[in-house]
Amino acid sequence: MNPAVVQLAYLFSCILFIAGFMQLSRPKTAKRGNLLGASGMLLAIVVTLLDKQIVSFEIILVGLLVGTALGIFTALTTPMTAMPQMVGLLNGFGGAASALVAGAALFEILSLGNPLTLQFRIATAASSLIGTLTLFGSLVAAGKLQGLIKESPIRYKGEQCIKLLVLFVCLFLGSMLTTRPDTLWAYWALLGVSALLGVLLTAPIGGADMPVVICLMNSYSGLAGAATGFVLSNTALIIAGSLVGASGIILTQIMCKAMNRSLANVLLGGFGELKEDTALAGTIYAGRVKSTDPEEVAMLLEAASRVVLAPGYGLAVAQAQYAVRDLYNYLTSLGVEVDFAIHPVAGRMPGHMSVLLAEVDIPYEKLKEIDEINPEFEQVDVAIVVGANDVVNPLANTDPNSPIAGMPILEVYKAKTVVVIKRSLSPGFAGVPNPLFAYDNTLMLFADAKQALQAVLASLKELKA
Ligand code: TAP
Repeated sequence: MNPAVVQLAYLFSCILFIAGFMQLSRPKTAKRGNLLGASGMLLAIVVTLLDKQIVSFEIILVGLLVGTALGIFTALTTPMTAMPQMVGLLNGFGGAASALVAGAALFEILSLGNPLTLQFRIATAASSLIGTLTLFGSLVAAGKLQGLIKESPIRYKGEQCIKLLVLFVCLFLGSMLTTRPDTLWAYWALLGVSALLGVLLTAPIGGADMPVVICLMNSYSGLAGAATGFVLSNTALIIAGSLVGASGIILTQIMCKAMNRSLANVLLGGFGELKEDTALAGTIYAGRVKSTDPEEVAMLLEAASRVVLAPGYGLAVAQAQYAVRDLYNYLTSLGVEVDFAIHPVAGRMPGHMSVLLAEVDIPYEKLKEIDEINPEFEQVDVAIVVGANDVVNPLANTDPNSPIAGMPILEVYKAKTVVVIKRSLSPGFAGVPNPLFAYDNTLMLFADAKQALQAVLASLKELKA
């Protein structure tokens, strides 16, 4: 194929990636953005296949069939609540693919006896290190989220020194590979030590912080891809990898900011060791918690003109999005103004709540972000908290010693009445009690979110009949 045509096609696919990314920043245009990005990737793949005689088309076809079958099977069988670990695994595989391709290129060139450029050597070392670290780091992260590995931080004496030492060994082996590429043992050793570094970096981080780690691994997989792009001198791969690397790190920062924690605190802090503070819970709740039933909530809603629903992880666990949608539709048909308060780290993965609500066609303009909805809570008649806990916990504002201190929260407590739907008084992911449950204007509806919402809707319909 004419090299100019190939470069033009790569350029066009990169334009599609960037245009796709820009559209992904708004839920309304996100689907189109996804399609644009995927079209860019398809174009890049087709051009690469036509341009280079990499492996035979038969092998590529077998790979495509096996990969597609595995992808469809895992996508269909993975529950929504297990999506973070699924994304984690996919990041890991991306890192592994980059490292393997770079390794294959190294072996091929050495076997042909061709000279290796400095760019090739540095990029091969970088791709092997980052790609392998990403694979093993992601495996540990996914294992923790799946409960296959101890979720609490695995800490030991001299931890930071050991990690630093292993990092230096990685860098040493990388420099060996760069300066003396014929030293193939350095390549294999680099893979082994990078794998160890991936495990050592992820194991001391608690399960609560795994979504942040997964975003970071996403960024690393992009960097490994970009490095492999330099190995192959493939512009499309360099740009696509850099885009993934940059967007992953931006997302990581957004998540850290939403939890009011620094990245260093997430990576080194051992958050997740926290145990439920039962003594504090006793003082906060003692005799102050008022429980309610669906009939009473229905009466409150019948009299309300403004309602806000604040969803959290429990919504995902209960798969209550359809019940939420039905209640939303009915209230709207009665002329009630209904909005959704979306916290950036509600649930267990970025955009978790928006995805669930989009699945049931809640209009995007009804999803209000924290800065937009907080000033409005004072005008809200009923705020319904559906399976959320940490993201509505006022302790974040009032207790500087709390593990969630400083985390911006949805200020549902300012509404005239707050109804909290959850099954018990147990804490959320951060393990801290929630004084909101004992506020004078709070009513607790102890039930599974889906069943509770269905019962509230049935009672409301009865009242209106
Ligand atoms: P959480 O604080 O984890 O609370 C979820 C609540 O849902 C639990 O208290 C649980 O109480 C309730 N629940 C579970 N199953 C339920 C069901 N079937 N029906 C009704 N309620 C149910 O959730 P959140 O408020 O969404 O906060 C998210 C937490 O995860 C934050 O601490 C955040 O920092 C952390 N985190 C999130 C992310 C991302 S990206 N989203 C990343 C890192 C960390 P019961 O057991 O009593 O029902």
